[in-house]
Amino acid sequence: MSDMEKHYPVLLNELISIISPQHGGTFIDCTFGQGGYTKKILDFPDTKVIALDRDSESMKEAEKIQNKFEDRFLFKNIKFSQLNNLKLKNENIKGIIFDLGYSYTQIKDPKKRLSFDSIGELNMKMGINDFSAKEAINNLDEKELEKIFKYLGEEKESKRISHNIVEDRKTREITTEELVRIIESSKRKKKYKTHSATKIFQALRMFVNKEITELIYGLINAAKVVKKDGIIAVVTFHSLEDRIVKYFFKSLSENNSVSRYVPKGKEEENLLKLINKKPIIASKREINENPSSRSAKLRCVIKKKNFYDFKTDILDKFNYLIEVENYSKKLWKKWY
Ligand SMILES: C[S@@+](CC[C@H](N)C(=O)[O-])C[C@H]1O[C@@H](n2cnc3c(N)ncnc32)[C@H](O)[C@@H]1O
Repeated sequence: MSDMEKHYPVLLNELISIISPQHGGTFIDCTFGQGGYTKKILDFPDTKVIALDRDSESMKEAEKIQNKFEDRFLFKNIKFSQLNNLKLKNENIKGIIFDLGYSYTQIKDPKKRLSFDSIGELNMKMGINDFSAKEAINNLDEKELEKIFKYLGEEKESKRISHNIVEDRKTREITTEELVRIIESSKRKKKYKTHSATKIFQALRMFVNKEITELIYGLINAAKVVKKDGIIAVVTFHSLEDRIVKYFFKSLSENNSVSRYVPKGKEEENLLKLINKKPIIASKREINENPSSRSAKLRCVIKKKNFYDFKTDILDKFNYLIEVENYSKKLWKKWY
């Protein structure tokens, strides 16, 4: 793979300095990808990495690492929402990291058709999926499509675009190129800083891969599995993901339950503690080298209690998004 084609792990040095693998320990890399973070951690002696990725294409890189590091490395081709099924209750997990979204290798994979400059049948499956973007676009009703675009893509013109999709599909099956054409012709404003199809493609990709549901369950299970004094670090790439991570970390690190009658110093310690109040962002130098790092935000917390189970209202708070992703039940029920 040439240098131009490889995936740049974003905020790598910042992440490593927070999880401090120089002291050894077991880490979970929930989004292995091309192994950028994993390799850096394994460079430190006395470390172990359990790596997860939903995309079976990641296995090629995982095999190379396996050959080099043998019993210090374990790869599982699963979704990170399944983190709690790894039977890790007795493992001393020191850090859990998430680098959300897709890798450069995935966006350039012509079969996945994640991008609006892809050609042919709609797909967008990242791995372990029940349906593709083709089934979603060609079968969901107008209102459902509108809500997917509005809530997952934060697209202002979702109503007109979904209406035009439903009209168009009466005469033909909608392909990637056709979808781009419908979006472009539906938009009132003709000039955008980014491609006019960016938000709709983001929404569809999130819907096909149930990315919000994945993130919420991934965070809940990470907070269960990581040990006291262990760290959870998450890199996000858009505001919706960042809002969810920020809310989860903040709500479990603020002492809402403390009564003002409790004497100072006797307050209950919270489950989590924020390491940085503001997210860490890429330096100018990193953005120059890898422009896609400009929207990356790194948030991290440290676990302060050894609880496996805890209360959180994150599922209620973002239920409106989970409900939108659940429109997919209608699609996969068709195949069972
Ligand atoms: C941005 S890339 C990670 C790149 C990696 N940090 C590196 O340095 O090579 C995101 C990866 O996470 C994987 N992924 C996304 N959502 C996932 C999920 N819910 N469960 C497991 N893997 C997921 C994708 O397949 C992709 O390979």
